[in-house]
Amino acid sequence: MEVVIVPDAGAAGELVAETMADLLRRKPDALLGVATGSTPLPVYRALAAKAAAGAVDTSRARICQLDEYVGLPAGHPESYRSVILREVVEPLGLDEARFLGPDGSAEDIRAACEKYEGELAAAGGVDLQLLGIGTDGHIGFNEPCSSLASRTRLKTLTRQTRADNARFFGGDIDQVPHHVITQGIGTILEARHLVLLATGEGKAEAVAQTVEGPLSALVPASALQMHPHATVVVDEAAASGLKLADYFRSAYETKPHWQKL
Ligand code: F6R
Repeated sequence: MEVVIVPDAGAAGELVAETMADLLRRKPDALLGVATGSTPLPVYRALAAKAAAGAVDTSRARICQLDEYVGLPAGHPESYRSVILREVVEPLGLDEARFLGPDGSAEDIRAACEKYEGELAAAGGVDLQLLGIGTDGHIGFNEPCSSLASRTRLKTLTRQTRADNARFFGGDIDQVPHHVITQGIGTILEARHLVLLATGEGKAEAVAQTVEGPLSALVPASALQMHPHATVVVDEAAASGLKLADYFRSAYETKPHWQKL
Protein backbone atom coordinates (compact mmCIF):
# COMPACT_ATOMS: atom_id res chain seq x y z
CA MET A 1 0.00 0.00 0.00
CA GLU A 2 1.35 3.43 -0.90
CA VAL A 3 0.49 6.38 1.33
CA VAL A 4 0.83 9.86 -0.16
CA ILE A 5 0.58 12.82 2.20
CA VAL A 6 -0.33 16.13 0.58
CA PRO A 7 -0.82 19.56 2.19
CA ASP A 8 -4.58 19.90 1.80
CA ALA A 9 -7.78 18.75 0.11
CA GLY A 10 -7.11 20.85 -2.99
CA ALA A 11 -3.72 19.24 -3.56
CA ALA A 12 -5.26 15.80 -3.00
CA GLY A 13 -7.96 16.53 -5.57
CA GLU A 14 -5.40 17.69 -8.11
CA LEU A 15 -3.17 14.63 -7.61
CA VAL A 16 -6.01 12.12 -7.96
CA ALA A 17 -7.53 13.98 -10.94
CA GLU A 18 -4.14 13.91 -12.68
CA THR A 19 -3.90 10.17 -12.00
CA MET A 20 -7.32 9.67 -13.62
CA ALA A 21 -6.35 11.92 -16.54
CA ASP A 22 -3.13 9.97 -17.03
CA LEU A 23 -5.13 6.73 -17.14
CA LEU A 24 -7.55 8.19 -19.70
CA ARG A 25 -4.63 9.31 -21.89
CA ARG A 26 -3.44 5.68 -21.95
CA LYS A 27 -6.90 4.10 -22.03
CA PRO A 28 -9.54 6.59 -23.25
CA ASP A 29 -12.49 4.31 -22.43
CA ALA A 30 -11.25 3.42 -18.93
CA LEU A 31 -13.95 2.51 -16.41
CA LEU A 32 -13.63 4.92 -13.49
CA GLY A 33 -15.33 3.88 -10.25
CA VAL A 34 -16.50 6.93 -8.36
CA ALA A 35 -17.53 7.56 -4.78
CA THR A 36 -19.98 10.12 -3.46
CA GLY A 37 -19.86 12.22 -0.30
CA SER A 38 -17.85 15.41 0.22
CA THR A 39 -14.28 14.11 -0.03
CA PRO A 40 -14.06 13.35 -3.78
CA LEU A 41 -15.63 16.61 -4.97
CA PRO A 42 -12.25 18.40 -5.47
CA VAL A 43 -11.18 15.46 -7.67
CA TYR A 44 -14.22 15.77 -9.93
CA ARG A 45 -13.80 19.53 -10.20
CA ALA A 46 -10.10 19.24 -11.04
CA LEU A 47 -10.78 16.54 -13.65
CA ALA A 48 -13.54 18.60 -15.29
CA ALA A 49 -11.17 21.61 -15.35
CA LYS A 50 -8.51 19.52 -17.10
CA ALA A 51 -11.06 18.35 -19.67
CA ALA A 52 -12.27 21.92 -20.25
CA ALA A 53 -8.66 23.09 -20.72
CA GLY A 54 -8.01 20.33 -23.27
CA ALA A 55 -5.45 18.61 -21.03
CA VAL A 56 -7.33 15.32 -21.31
CA ASP A 57 -10.10 13.95 -23.50
CA THR A 58 -12.73 12.44 -21.20
CA SER A 59 -15.35 11.90 -23.90
CA ARG A 60 -14.90 8.12 -24.00
CA ALA A 61 -14.54 7.61 -20.24
CA ARG A 62 -16.96 5.26 -18.54
CA ILE A 63 -18.18 5.84 -15.00
CA CYS A 64 -19.60 3.46 -12.42
CA GLN A 65 -21.13 3.89 -9.03
CA LEU A 66 -19.88 2.38 -5.78
CA ASP A 67 -23.09 2.42 -3.83
CA GLU A 68 -26.65 3.71 -3.74
CA TYR A 69 -29.38 4.41 -1.21
CA VAL A 70 -32.33 2.04 -1.23
CA GLY A 71 -35.81 3.46 -1.04
CA LEU A 72 -35.29 6.95 -2.40
CA PRO A 73 -37.51 7.59 -5.41
CA ALA A 74 -35.67 7.52 -8.76
CA GLY A 75 -34.38 11.03 -9.50
CA HIS A 76 -34.23 12.10 -5.81
CA PRO A 77 -31.53 14.82 -5.69
CA GLU A 78 -29.58 12.95 -2.97
CA SER A 79 -29.73 9.56 -4.66
CA TYR A 80 -26.16 8.72 -5.54
CA ARG A 81 -27.12 8.38 -9.20
CA SER A 82 -28.31 12.00 -9.16
CA VAL A 83 -25.17 13.13 -7.32
CA ILE A 84 -22.82 11.43 -9.79
CA LEU A 85 -24.80 12.75 -12.76
CA ARG A 86 -24.52 16.27 -11.31
CA GLU A 87 -20.90 16.13 -10.11
CA VAL A 88 -19.21 13.87 -12.67
CA VAL A 89 -21.21 12.83 -15.73
CA GLU A 90 -22.56 16.26 -16.68
CA PRO A 91 -19.37 18.28 -15.94
CA LEU A 92 -17.38 15.82 -18.07
CA GLY A 93 -19.97 16.11 -20.83
CA LEU A 94 -20.59 12.36 -20.87
CA ASP A 95 -23.61 10.61 -22.29
CA GLU A 96 -25.64 8.98 -19.49
CA ALA A 97 -25.27 5.67 -21.36
CA ARG A 98 -21.61 5.66 -20.25
CA PHE A 99 -22.67 5.56 -16.57
CA LEU A 100 -23.36 2.28 -14.76
CA GLY A 101 -25.00 2.00 -11.37
CA PRO A 102 -27.26 -0.20 -9.25
CA ASP A 103 -30.98 0.55 -9.13
CA GLY A 104 -31.80 1.49 -5.54
CA SER A 105 -35.48 1.89 -6.37
CA ALA A 106 -35.83 -1.64 -7.82
CA GLU A 107 -38.63 -3.86 -6.46
CA ASP A 108 -36.23 -6.80 -6.36
CA ILE A 109 -33.06 -5.50 -4.69
CA ARG A 110 -31.30 -8.86 -4.77
CA ALA A 111 -31.79 -9.06 -8.54
CA ALA A 112 -30.61 -5.43 -8.90
CA CYS A 113 -27.38 -6.32 -7.04
CA GLU A 114 -26.74 -9.38 -9.21
CA LYS A 115 -27.48 -7.36 -12.35
CA TYR A 116 -24.96 -4.71 -11.33
CA GLU A 117 -22.24 -7.29 -10.63
CA GLY A 118 -22.89 -8.71 -14.10
CA GLU A 119 -22.68 -5.28 -15.70
CA LEU A 120 -19.34 -4.53 -14.04
CA ALA A 121 -17.93 -7.84 -15.23
CA ALA A 122 -19.30 -7.36 -18.76
CA ALA A 123 -17.70 -3.90 -18.81
CA GLY A 124 -14.31 -5.56 -18.26
CA GLY A 125 -13.93 -4.55 -14.61
CA VAL A 126 -13.08 -1.26 -12.98
CA ASP A 127 -9.76 0.32 -13.97
CA LEU A 128 -9.50 2.82 -11.14
CA GLN A 129 -11.81 2.87 -8.13
CA LEU A 130 -11.87 6.05 -6.08
CA LEU A 131 -12.89 5.44 -2.46
CA GLY A 132 -13.72 7.68 0.46
CA ILE A 133 -13.66 6.35 4.00
CA GLY A 134 -16.29 6.57 6.71
CA THR A 135 -15.41 7.69 10.22
CA ASP A 136 -16.11 4.07 11.19
CA GLY A 137 -13.70 2.75 8.55
CA HIS A 138 -16.27 1.80 5.91
CA ILE A 139 -15.50 1.78 2.21
CA GLY A 140 -18.43 1.95 -0.15
CA PHE A 141 -21.12 1.24 2.39
CA ASN A 142 -19.44 -1.84 3.76
CA GLU A 143 -19.94 -1.14 7.42
CA PRO A 144 -17.76 -2.68 10.18
CA CYS A 145 -17.86 -6.49 10.20
CA SER A 146 -18.78 -6.73 6.52
CA SER A 147 -17.31 -9.86 4.99
CA LEU A 148 -13.97 -9.14 3.39
CA ALA A 149 -15.16 -11.39 0.52
CA SER A 150 -18.56 -9.71 0.13
CA ARG A 151 -20.18 -8.97 -3.23
CA THR A 152 -22.68 -6.29 -4.18
CA ARG A 153 -25.61 -6.59 -1.79
CA LEU A 154 -28.03 -4.84 0.53
CA LYS A 155 -26.47 -3.38 3.68
CA THR A 156 -27.86 -1.54 6.70
CA LEU A 157 -26.14 1.72 7.60
CA THR A 158 -24.84 2.26 11.13
CA ARG A 159 -26.34 5.10 13.12
CA GLN A 160 -22.93 6.82 12.96
CA THR A 161 -22.96 6.79 9.14
CA ARG A 162 -26.57 8.00 9.01
CA ALA A 163 -25.64 10.83 11.42
CA ASP A 164 -22.59 11.70 9.27
CA ASN A 165 -24.77 11.84 6.14
CA ALA A 166 -27.68 13.75 7.70
CA ARG A 167 -26.08 16.96 6.38
CA PHE A 168 -27.23 15.96 2.89
CA PHE A 169 -30.81 15.58 4.16
CA GLY A 170 -31.34 18.94 5.85
CA GLY A 171 -29.60 17.76 9.03
CA ASP A 172 -32.44 15.30 9.76
CA ILE A 173 -31.11 11.80 10.45
CA ASP A 174 -34.62 10.39 10.05
CA GLN A 175 -34.52 11.31 6.36
CA VAL A 176 -31.36 9.27 5.77
CA PRO A 177 -32.29 5.82 4.43
CA HIS A 178 -31.40 2.81 6.57
CA HIS A 179 -30.55 0.63 3.60
CA VAL A 180 -28.13 0.82 0.72
CA ILE A 181 -26.81 -1.26 -2.14
CA THR A 182 -23.03 -1.34 -2.05
CA GLN A 183 -20.33 -3.04 -4.04
CA GLY A 184 -18.93 -5.66 -1.69
CA ILE A 185 -15.38 -5.60 -0.41
CA GLY A 186 -14.58 -8.57 -2.67
CA THR A 187 -16.06 -6.63 -5.59
CA ILE A 188 -14.04 -3.50 -4.77
CA LEU A 189 -10.83 -5.49 -4.47
CA GLU A 190 -11.23 -6.60 -8.12
CA ALA A 191 -10.65 -3.06 -9.41
CA ARG A 192 -7.20 -2.77 -10.98
CA HIS A 193 -6.18 0.30 -8.95
CA LEU A 194 -7.75 1.45 -5.68
CA VAL A 195 -7.31 5.07 -4.64
CA LEU A 196 -8.58 5.90 -1.17
CA LEU A 197 -8.87 9.60 -0.47
CA ALA A 198 -9.28 11.03 3.04
CA THR A 199 -9.11 14.62 4.18
CA GLY A 200 -9.67 16.30 7.53
CA GLU A 201 -8.89 15.36 11.12
CA GLY A 202 -12.17 13.51 11.47
CA LYS A 203 -10.73 10.73 9.29
CA ALA A 204 -7.35 10.47 11.06
CA GLU A 205 -8.22 7.54 13.31
CA ALA A 206 -9.92 5.54 10.53
CA VAL A 207 -6.92 6.18 8.26
CA ALA A 208 -4.42 5.06 10.91
CA GLN A 209 -6.37 1.84 11.53
CA THR A 210 -6.67 1.22 7.78
CA VAL A 211 -2.98 1.68 7.04
CA GLU A 212 -1.21 0.60 10.21
CA GLY A 213 -3.76 -1.52 12.03
CA PRO A 214 -4.41 -5.22 11.56
CA LEU A 215 -6.41 -6.54 8.62
CA SER A 216 -9.85 -6.76 10.17
CA ALA A 217 -13.49 -6.83 9.11
CA LEU A 218 -14.01 -4.36 11.96
CA VAL A 219 -12.19 -1.80 9.80
CA PRO A 220 -13.41 -2.61 6.29
CA ALA A 221 -10.93 -0.24 4.63
CA SER A 222 -8.06 -2.36 6.03
CA ALA A 223 -8.92 -4.77 3.18
CA LEU A 224 -6.83 -2.45 0.99
CA GLN A 225 -3.81 -4.11 2.61
CA MET A 226 -4.63 -7.15 0.45
CA HIS A 227 -4.67 -5.24 -2.85
CA PRO A 228 -1.57 -5.23 -5.06
CA HIS A 229 -2.11 -1.64 -6.20
CA ALA A 230 -3.72 0.46 -3.48
CA THR A 231 -2.91 4.14 -3.00
CA VAL A 232 -4.01 6.12 0.05
CA VAL A 233 -3.99 9.89 -0.53
CA VAL A 234 -4.39 11.93 2.64
CA ASP A 235 -3.99 15.53 3.66
CA GLU A 236 -1.87 16.45 6.69
CA ALA A 237 -4.91 16.42 9.00
CA ALA A 238 -6.05 12.95 7.94
CA ALA A 239 -2.44 11.74 8.21
CA SER A 240 -2.05 13.04 11.77
CA GLY A 241 -2.54 9.60 13.38
CA LEU A 242 0.04 7.78 11.23
CA LYS A 243 3.12 6.55 13.11
CA LEU A 244 5.02 6.03 9.85
CA ALA A 245 4.15 9.43 8.35
CA ASP A 246 7.82 10.45 7.95
CA TYR A 247 8.60 7.22 6.12
CA PHE A 248 5.61 7.67 3.80
CA ARG A 249 6.73 11.25 3.06
CA SER A 250 10.29 10.28 2.24
CA ALA A 251 9.21 7.28 0.16
CA TYR A 252 7.01 9.52 -1.98
CA GLU A 253 9.64 12.26 -2.27
CA THR A 254 12.28 9.82 -3.47
CA LYS A 255 9.98 7.76 -5.69
CA PRO A 256 11.16 7.28 -9.27
CA HIS A 257 9.12 9.63 -11.46
CA TRP A 258 8.16 6.90 -13.94
CA GLN A 259 6.33 4.96 -11.24
CA LYS A 260 3.58 7.59 -10.86
CA LEU A 261 0.78 6.54 -8.49
C1 F6R B 1 -20.06 7.01 -0.75
C2 F6R B 1 -19.10 6.14 -0.11
C3 F6R B 1 -18.74 6.34 1.32
C4 F6R B 1 -18.09 7.70 1.56
C5 F6R B 1 -17.75 7.89 3.02
C6 F6R B 1 -17.08 9.22 3.29
O1 F6R B 1 -20.21 6.66 -2.11
O2 F6R B 1 -18.61 5.25 -0.73
O3 F6R B 1 -17.86 5.32 1.72
O4 F6R B 1 -16.93 7.77 0.77
O5 F6R B 1 -18.90 7.78 3.77
O6 F6R B 1 -17.95 10.26 2.98
P1 F6R B 1 -17.44 11.77 3.01
O7 F6R B 1 -16.50 11.91 1.87
O8 F6R B 1 -18.70 12.59 2.77
O9 F6R B 1 -16.82 11.98 4.33
